[in-house]
Amino acid sequence: MRPYRLIAPAKINLLLEIIGNRPDGYHELVMVLQSIDLADEIEIKPVSGDRIALQCDHPQVPSDETNLAYRAAKLMQENFPGHGGLEISIQKRIPIGAGLAGGSTDAAAVLVGLDLMWSLGLTQEDLHCLAAKLGSDVPFCIAGGTALALGRGEELSPLTDLDQLYAVLAKYRSLSVSTPWAYQTYREKFGHAYAQDPSAQEARRRTGPSVPLLSAIAHRNGLAIAQALHNDLEKVVLTAHPKVAQLRETLANKSALGGMMSGSGPTVFALADNSQDAQQIASQLSQELPDPDLDVWVTKLIAHGIHLAPTDEG
Ligand code: C5P
Repeated sequence: MRPYRLIAPAKINLLLEIIGNRPDGYHELVMVLQSIDLADEIEIKPVSGDRIALQCDHPQVPSDETNLAYRAAKLMQENFPGHGGLEISIQKRIPIGAGLAGGSTDAAAVLVGLDLMWSLGLTQEDLHCLAAKLGSDVPFCIAGGTALALGRGEELSPLTDLDQLYAVLAKYRSLSVSTPWAYQTYREKFGHAYAQDPSAQEARRRTGPSVPLLSAIAHRNGLAIAQALHNDLEKVVLTAHPKVAQLRETLANKSALGGMMSGSGPTVFALADNSQDAQQIASQLSQELPDPDLDVWVTKLIAHGIHLAPTDEG
């Protein structure tokens, strides 16, 4: 058994449409999820005994069972006993509470890493089943890329790669949004308009904002993709946080393509056709909003999820 270092990419939502309620209390969704090259680095190594130890260089990330990566390790120990304990080290680069699936991708990295470290030979389907037990975004984070996600977010279909595009991300460091709060507030405000039965839900899926987006993705058309971006949770998060609404507007206006809020926010992004345009959008934004609380990243859309770090010696 040897240690493994893994890269765990963040995701942005190109689409998040809320269709209705599910019997399990979650929401029935249509999402288009996209991996980006802003990523955490995770190291896992074997230790004696059965203990799980987790450390992270970000002071606000918990190191106990409230951390999804810790729960991923525990789930693996329960399902595959006898392989001993492990130490997990997380180098946090993805902001937390940001709508970028930072916690989910770390958990996905632990599943993939333990499959390797314990030589389990799990299939993609095995990993997907384990991931779905941990959270709605964890299955996507394993293979990543560009995907359509239905159901709770765990029914995945791969889409055409968009790795020619860039995304400029912006987030106020001091601001984070709770995902359960965003969904619950949406339900309180808009639940009366939810599609009620399975056939009404299917009709809404077939006629909703995913239709133009999926066509734009199939053609790898950056402008058409940007014009078809859609996120229902903007209706609650941007209303509650006018500062984020203003940031979204400013950022989207800088891009020839357009932009949106990712997931439950509060990160907003603008798409760009190439690296120079992305750099220009980022520097214009930093000049127009010179706020020390504002973080800005230039990222590239990528065609994969969890992978071994280049520094891994295997
Ligand atoms: O699955 P996960 O733990 O990531 O979801 C976080 C929260 O987001 C859930 O507790 C729920 O409030 C909300 N959610 C939802 N419907 C989904 C996914 C998430 O209501 N399909």
